[in-house]
Amino acid sequence: MSKYIINGGAALDGSVSVDCAKNAYLPILAATILCEGQVILNRAPDFVDVKNMCVILEKLGLKITHQGDVLVIDGASANPKFVPVDTAKLLRSSIFTLGAMLGRFKRARVAYPGGCDIGQRPINIHLKGLRDLGVKITESHGTLICDASDQHGGTIMLDFASVGATENLVLFSVLGREKTTIVNCAREPEVVDMCNFLNKMGARVYGAGTSVIEIEPVKKLNGTEYTPIPDRIIAGTYLIAGAITHGRVEVKNCNPANFTSLIDKLRNSGCILRVKNDKISLKSPKTLRSVGLIETQVYPGFPTDLQAQMLVLQALSRGCCVVRENIFESRFKFVPELIKMGANIDVHDRTAFVEGVSALSGADVVAKDLRGGAGLVLAGLCANGYTTVHDIYHIERGYADFDKRLNELGANIRREV
Ligand code: EPZ
Repeated sequence: MSKYIINGGAALDGSVSVDCAKNAYLPILAATILCEGQVILNRAPDFVDVKNMCVILEKLGLKITHQGDVLVIDGASANPKFVPVDTAKLLRSSIFTLGAMLGRFKRARVAYPGGCDIGQRPINIHLKGLRDLGVKITESHGTLICDASDQHGGTIMLDFASVGATENLVLFSVLGREKTTIVNCAREPEVVDMCNFLNKMGARVYGAGTSVIEIEPVKKLNGTEYTPIPDRIIAGTYLIAGAITHGRVEVKNCNPANFTSLIDKLRNSGCILRVKNDKISLKSPKTLRSVGLIETQVYPGFPTDLQAQMLVLQALSRGCCVVRENIFESRFKFVPELIKMGANIDVHDRTAFVEGVSALSGADVVAKDLRGGAGLVLAGLCANGYTTVHDIYHIERGYADFDKRLNELGANIRREV
């Protein structure tokens, strides 16, 4: 199993560019199932999750040609083959293929995507929405067998503003028969980006970014070329890396308007941030202040995907901070690893009580999930001595060349197989 070996202590100093957003690329890849023409997607990030989504699409009959970081996708020969459990479990986003397959072929069979290290990851909201739109769903031996021959429109309500359920139900409705209105939608920028992509193919999706999305059905979608938005979570991760090492980091090719909640917290911690178009620069103070309270919320609140990275920053800030994880039920699995490095944290259910310490010491730690693993790398960057982060396959699901880019910023990190 690969690992990172980090010699901590260097103040990061430099500029880093951001990849396209994993959580935009994945639903957009699923959306290509709806199109019989050719789609060109630019700047495909070198994330394991994106590669696995391409594997799933190819198993469903789509043809994908890689031209550097450009994906040329032809959906003409797509067919509603069964997405087997070993493929579906490759990544949770396999569930997005359900909405798209049902939208185009009115039938689909897909294995339950299953949970992961941050929680049960149920899909009840997805299934309730599909059933409310006329889909017959039977579940047998972990497989969902779906029939949308009686699909209809109407207004449906999400019990929670689920990102995946919003995306799946929009994908299902684009080639429907009647107008569909989805209430209590997720407002994340990645949802908006997927809807913009659909509209560029000729769909008629209105209201993305608000809590009510309306879809006027169309008969077919046309091929197009598209570049998804930059990854706001990667941008935030590098900014926090600059803050925690008391350095200066400029993040390029990002959209600061998509992570104002993080910018606000970093300013409260004493960092100086300057925003200029698609660039944001951070200068960290000698002593970081605790921000007092972090509550993860749906967008535009503080993103759960930056909770781990921000918690590590609080572990090294003067004062106490309460971190409340409101979105996933077990997103503190990295905390025991952080405590091995000398952090002073108490976790009770979904709340972490953090008392800042003056320094962490390097240790052998194990990544348990994508963002918690990224948080452990940040801890290693500023710890005294060497930190080894094991099981970095979790991290490589959503960060490309993480070691290389951190070294370009002045860190001392190497990847070992
Ligand atoms: C998306 O996951 C992202 N993944 C996650 O990013 C992100 O943390 C999450 O949205 C919240 O922003 C992708 O976009 C590929 P949800 P998703 O449905 O769609 C519960 C990362 O690190 N829920 O908004 O799975 C669920 O259990 C990943 O990049 C139900 O109960 O998130 C969770 O507690 C991690 N029933 C909450 O809602 C459902 O049917 C939020 O889930 C669906 C969700």
